[in-house]
Amino acid sequence: MLSQTTIVSVLAGLAVAPSVLGASQYNLVQDYSGADFFQGFKYNESVIDYNNYGNVHFLGQSQALSSNLTYVNSNGRTVIKVDNTTNGQGDITFGRNSVYLMSEKTMTMGSLLVFDANHMPFGCSVWPALFTQGQKWPEQGEIDIIENVNQATKNQYSLHSGANSGSCVQPPSIFSSQTGLSQVSTPNTPNNCTVLPTTDQNTGCVVQDSSDGSFGAGFNSNGGGVYATLWNDDGIKMWFWERGSAEMPSGIGGKGALDPESWSMEPAAYFPASGCDPSKIFGPQIITLYIDICGAFAGNDQVFQSTCGSIAPNCSAMVPDPRNYDNAYWEINYLRVFSTSSSSSSSNSSTHSNSNTQSGSNSASASGTLFSSRAGNMLGLVSGLAMFFGVAALL
Ligand SMILES: *[C@@H]1O[C@H](CO)[C@@H](O)[C@H](O)[C@H]1NC(C)=O
Ligand SMILES: *[C@@H]1O[C@H](CO)[C@@H](O)[C@H](O)[C@H]1NC(C)=O
Ligand SMILES: *[C@@H]1O[C@H](CO)[C@@H](O)[C@H](O)[C@H]1NC(C)=O
Ligand SMILES: *[C@@H]1O[C@H](CO)[C@@H](O)[C@H](O)[C@H]1NC(C)=O
Ligand SMILES: *[C@@H]1O[C@H](CO)[C@@H](O)[C@H](O)[C@H]1NC(C)=O
Ligand SMILES: *[C@@H]1O[C@H](CO)[C@@H](O)[C@H](O)[C@H]1NC(C)=O
Repeated sequence: MLSQTTIVSVLAGLAVAPSVLGASQYNLVQDYSGADFFQGFKYNESVIDYNNYGNVHFLGQSQALSSNLTYVNSNGRTVIKVDNTTNGQGDITFGRNSVYLMSEKTMTMGSLLVFDANHMPFGCSVWPALFTQGQKWPEQGEIDIIENVNQATKNQYSLHSGANSGSCVQPPSIFSSQTGLSQVSTPNTPNNCTVLPTTDQNTGCVVQDSSDGSFGAGFNSNGGGVYATLWNDDGIKMWFWERGSAEMPSGIGGKGALDPESWSMEPAAYFPASGCDPSKIFGPQIITLYIDICGAFAGNDQVFQSTCGSIAPNCSAMVPDPRNYDNAYWEINYLRVFSTSSSSSSSNSSTHSNSNTQSGSNSASASGTLFSSRAGNMLGLVSGLAMFFGVAALL
């Protein structure tokens, strides 16, 4: 009698039960650092950046390792970088080598993601991102943890949701319960997370961090810091602490259980369940980390001019010179996922049956072959954050 869907839903209900009952211990379920980092991620190889039209080639694992774009440095930290040795001068088809990493395991509701880096990619034309995405985009949502471009100094957090997943907004009533600034034009407008990929409504609901240490040069000169993202039945909260911040909750940096529901400090960004149902809008999330160059966001003329207009006439003029990429690297201490459900992310007890990324990656590369040069359609669109997957979604 029970359909498979019902069984899966029942299992999903059990999986979140501990937090419903009031226990809020988040135990370590995924731990990536040093060389282990690369074991947990696959390299989404692609000679063309179909989603964002960047001037990049994303290398496969063996090429990335042999060209030293991913390695562990002498401090034991994980380095992920853009090629800064190849001179592309005179080659009009030049695309710089970079990498696009996606976690093998997914993250489910009832999780806390903690990311500690000493350095993030930075510079004119550089577009780094740490985000999570469902296997179907935008239907299964996207959570942007670190993202901005060029010489921006403040990080931007955002959610993206599908138009058919139900309403997902950040209500104005909570704008004062976060330290970041919601990027909406009028104070009474809800910050709308729904994206309509074929239109210019594709930026999601963006919140800008208040600290100049949260992105780019400032982040790097402080020796980096720690980002935490909590996704539970109360909604989604993101925090950032600069290196050495006295506000960092105890236990961060260790592998012991954490209790983020007890943290008293306001998050930098807060997307409460009252505006965006965290169980309906987001499917199991693939952790994604990459570095793009130019493309729909960094290369947007208006965006580029705002912080790099005095450096180069346009974004693509930066790309041939390898010296422009000496700062285009992540140097990571660790990325950890803590969860209230010990079976989270590695078993089949999620609301969606595809809980490993193999199928996601298959469908992604399948769609990758279906389109060629939609870039022209998109380049004219407004400045926007994360036109992520805009083209893929046209399918
Ligand atoms: C992998 O990269 C290809 C090419 O850029 C892209 O179309 C696809 O969406 C990516 N896959 C995911 C899951 O992001
Ligand atoms: C990669 O790094 C190793 C060790 O530092 C070095 O021997 C090798 O030449 C580098 N390879 C490239 C392609 O830069
Ligand atoms: C958010 O955007 C979607 C898509 O345009 C729209 O249908 C919805 O009404 C918007 N929500 C609000 C509260 O404005
Ligand atoms: C960017 O600037 C360079 C150098 O001035 C110029 O040659 C090139 O045509 C420009 N590209 C675009 C897309 O405007
Ligand atoms: C490239 O960038 C690295 C830092 O990631 C730096 O150590 C190196 O000197 C840069 N230049 C070259 C030519 O490798
Ligand atoms: C989980 O799902 C995979 C793929 O559908 C299947 O091969 C595997 O047997 C399932 N594992 C369990 C424990 O049900």
